[in-house]
Amino acid sequence: MAWTKKHLLDIESLTAEEIITVLDTARGFKAVGERAIKKVPALRGKTVVNLFVEPSTRTRISFELAAQRLSADIVNFSAEASSFKKGETLKDTALTLQALNADFIVIRHSASGAPHFLSRVLDAHVINAGDGAHAHPTQALLDCFTIRERKGKIAGLNVTILGDILYSRVARSDIWALTKLGANVTLCGPSTLVPKTFEQMGCRVTHDVDEAIRDADIINLLRIQHERQRKTMFPSIGEYTQLFGLNKARLAKTKPDALIMHPGPINRGVEIDSEIADSGRSVILEQVTNGLAVRMAVLFLVNGGKVPAEAVGN
Ligand code: CP
Repeated sequence: MAWTKKHLLDIESLTAEEIITVLDTARGFKAVGERAIKKVPALRGKTVVNLFVEPSTRTRISFELAAQRLSADIVNFSAEASSFKKGETLKDTALTLQALNADFIVIRHSASGAPHFLSRVLDAHVINAGDGAHAHPTQALLDCFTIRERKGKIAGLNVTILGDILYSRVARSDIWALTKLGANVTLCGPSTLVPKTFEQMGCRVTHDVDEAIRDADIINLLRIQHERQRKTMFPSIGEYTQLFGLNKARLAKTKPDALIMHPGPINRGVEIDSEIADSGRSVILEQVTNGLAVRMAVLFLVNGGKVPAEAVGN
């Protein structure tokens, strides 16, 4: 098993072998999730805290379920109802949670680097659930899991990521993961949101959507991340949809077996036609399902990847 990391902070610092280890481990946990009894004792006696300082549905709930299925105790921290409101810092909040015996801090924060900072001040395992526009490693891992499960491989596939790349932590983590695993990654969207500088990450940049999706095996759509944009990056949502939205006419010109992915939340009628989102071409909800298995794998691996003897003996 190729895994030595105490934390999961980003994809950039993982080797291809470590990524594959997560995907293989997640495959086992997905099988566990299909059994009548879905729990394993791997993290019995451990405490996981979901420290989410930004909104989330998929990531927060799947980490919660992942911890429960591994028999850990799970606490959901609510920023709105916390002493953040009285001026307590992130560091003091995290140290307080650790003093309450948190073994894992799963953090989502609007500031890029917040998980890395916590990993330097805590003894607990730190897992990045999304930091600013920097990284969303478990999303990239579940995206790779979904592609590998559906296509049987990742190396050599043409993956097009379409939308707001500039402000997307998902795009950055996907690019790192997919290029490490040998995919050909194309980025497409308005030039203000997809600058040529992304070519330095080993991908192709184009602003011609029909050309970008024509030979794609995977079309991964991203929403416009208004919450991170400080200025207007394109004239209007209507124009964005017309020029870059995935509609039936555009889909008809793609490979018939090209998969449509989206990390969610989707904006129906903006980056994706509602009918396409609900069609058999879309694997958006499979991504959500796979996220649970991938997050179980990540919690399990950062803890050392062993089922504790006392848990097996019980
Ligand atoms: N994909 C994703 O991170 O979704 P949430 O914001 O709902 O967690």
